[in-house]
Amino acid sequence: MAGSDRASYATGFSDLDDEVGPIPLVVRGEFPAWLQGTLLRNGPAKFDIGSTTVNHWFDGLAMLHRFEFGGGNVTYTNRFLRSEAFTESVAEGHLALGGFATDPCRTLFQRVASVFSPHYTDNGNVNIDVFGGATVALTETTLPVRFDPQTLATMGQAPISADVGGQLSIAHPHHDKARGCRFSYVVQFGPHSHYRLFAIPDDGSPERVIAEIPVDKPAYMHSFAMTERYLILTEFPLVVDPLKLLLALSPFIRNYEWQPERGLRFRVFDKDSGELIASRAAKAAFAFHHINAFEDGDNLQIDASVYDDPTIIDQVYLAPLRAGEPIAAIGRPIRFTLSLDDDAPVTSTVIVDEMLELPRMDYGRCAGRPYRYIWGAGQSPGGVFLDSIVRVDVAKGETSRWFAEGCFPGEPVFVSRPGAEQEGEGVLLSVVLDAISGTSFLLLLDARTLSEIARAQCPHKIPFGLHGNFYPAT
Ligand SMILES: [Fe+2]
Repeated sequence: MAGSDRASYATGFSDLDDEVGPIPLVVRGEFPAWLQGTLLRNGPAKFDIGSTTVNHWFDGLAMLHRFEFGGGNVTYTNRFLRSEAFTESVAEGHLALGGFATDPCRTLFQRVASVFSPHYTDNGNVNIDVFGGATVALTETTLPVRFDPQTLATMGQAPISADVGGQLSIAHPHHDKARGCRFSYVVQFGPHSHYRLFAIPDDGSPERVIAEIPVDKPAYMHSFAMTERYLILTEFPLVVDPLKLLLALSPFIRNYEWQPERGLRFRVFDKDSGELIASRAAKAAFAFHHINAFEDGDNLQIDASVYDDPTIIDQVYLAPLRAGEPIAAIGRPIRFTLSLDDDAPVTSTVIVDEMLELPRMDYGRCAGRPYRYIWGAGQSPGGVFLDSIVRVDVAKGETSRWFAEGCFPGEPVFVSRPGAEQEGEGVLLSVVLDAISGTSFLLLLDARTLSEIARAQCPHKIPFGLHGNFYPAT
């Protein structure tokens, strides 16, 4: 099914240049009247810049997508995020600021100059969040970009404060409703590097540092875990010598080395005191996404979509994706059990033997707490790319699947039905590429049964995105 097959997923990695909307979408089925609000999504959409092509999926220029629901209707808008990275890249005809695995074409002099005057990318193509009331597009630097959630107009950078500092951050902050803030972290690179956890208050008051620990070789961490009382950094043994990053001789991620002998290191911080209360080891593994975590007596249960090693990063370079090559391994849901009582190594168990990425759960109800259901984009047995939506019943160790021939769904975003009494009562929203028609549609599934309720046809193909969130109408 690779390469020339008309149902190849590869078309999801060609550029989308059209910006449309707001336009009404043709709906099949019925979007429920209670679904009122907006799904904002983000992802790389422009890979060919001038006569050049970026190296990696994660380096495409960001595009925002907005689906508004109300009265059973769906309207759609899409706009490029007009970040500095976008503007400079389009003007210069190549990726102007260093990305994940693509470097700007720099002379030796420019490289040396960039050591003294770093100019990080603000190509926020990974996720969307709301920081202190401002809607922002996020990548993994400390430069969120603000945009108007109604018009998708870009409003400029909203940098993480100088008090927090750092150069690298994440696109997966956690929201703590009880404390009225988001938690995130940065890595401060230098002769003495640090991880620094910080809070972003919902009321717009200044960010505040929660905790800081020194680190010799910072790990590549795309997300972290949160329970009711704790924040947990999972240091995967994909680590970097900060000097290499400083010299910038290779694209960002190519400076990181896989050192499995280091194993995994979990760092558990108290949310309120900032105290590092536990450091625990486990066998080497890699993950992009934590799923959820919770306190279980004297243990912490930490769930993630886990890989044996980071070869997935190599598999999602643009060339193999555009050739429709099979993705050999997707993460599997694994539960790590960490004892706060003693120094015993962390144990791990397979939740279900199922390939699943871009995991979501009933975040509003279960973030940091015991939970039962995971939804994610799955790869079915014999599949070559994310080709299904999978629901995992963690309690029963069972899965169910939505699959349609030639269709490649993205992250399923769970939306709880207003007044829902139980976990998982609601719907899933997923942007699906129909590789046969060469267009995308927004799919609405019953989150419990994975049966299709409705779909809304988009006017074009939406390149494979990464993440997004639903914001109820106020
Ligand atoms: Fe992610």
